[in-house]
Amino acid sequence: MISPALPELPDGVTVTALRDLAVRLATAAGALVREGRPDRVVVAATKSSEVDPVTVMDRASEELLREMIAAERPDDAILGEEGDDVAGTSGLTWVLDPIDGTVNYLYGVASWAVSVAVVAGPPEPASWTVLAGCVHSVADGRTWSAGLGEGATRDGVPVRVGAAASLGTSLVGTGFGYDAARRAHQAQVLTQVLPKIRDIRRLGSAAIDLCLLADGSIDLYYERGLNPWDMAAGAVVATEAGAVVTGLRGGPAGNAMTVAGPPELVAQLSEILEAADADGARSPEIG
Ligand code: IPD
Ligand code: CA
Repeated sequence: MISPALPELPDGVTVTALRDLAVRLATAAGALVREGRPDRVVVAATKSSEVDPVTVMDRASEELLREMIAAERPDDAILGEEGDDVAGTSGLTWVLDPIDGTVNYLYGVASWAVSVAVVAGPPEPASWTVLAGCVHSVADGRTWSAGLGEGATRDGVPVRVGAAASLGTSLVGTGFGYDAARRAHQAQVLTQVLPKIRDIRRLGSAAIDLCLLADGSIDLYYERGLNPWDMAAGAVVATEAGAVVTGLRGGPAGNAMTVAGPPELVAQLSEILEAADADGARSPEIG
């Protein structure tokens, strides 16, 4: 995919410097969360439903990220999963997921990450331009990052999306929301997708899923219900690795649907998802 045009940046700011900061932020928060993980992680609170947990370390990680941003880029805005929005004056917003894959973190399953991105424009996927992002998979140390127009790397090595021969031989990542009715609908959609692909992976972190797509570890990814912080960093890593990241029916990627992968396979998968009403366009009552 061709990178979007680079918006005008505040004086003295470069994409490279923003990317470096995203990496420093994500790895510092990752170290905090790794070292602070108790033997038995407990749920501090629940959010959208009783299966949508927050732990003490989700909050501590986001606090550290906010402190570091306030110290280094005090004029930037902040949109984080676990805290109040902070307004800024620079036109840039940091989009933070302090632990993406909280359920995995809770259970000790290795797929969870700190995800940090910086965007220009309104901080929502339909209208932002993601300038840089980093996804740090804390359990194994893998670190993906990208800057707009700079390409994407994993641990400093450039990555590219894979080239599955066909939809039928594609390994497809996806995820499910926290609401029961939404999940029932997602399960129905899956019955339309699964017979037409190699297999599904539900690994539990949208940020990591998008990075696995970027480095060719999976062939395609789709999910309904992503929040801006689930996808901001992963989306720039994926697009800079050659993926398209889009919605259905010609719309942009976002909460209704995010589909990512090589253009031809995304088109084929999107057709199935549209027919299955995967974005809920024909069933708004499901939410
Ligand atoms: C969740 C993960 C999961 C995805 C959910 C997200 P969280 O984020 O990314 O893979 O399926 O849609 O909400 O709650 O662990 O930060
Ligand atoms: Ca998340």
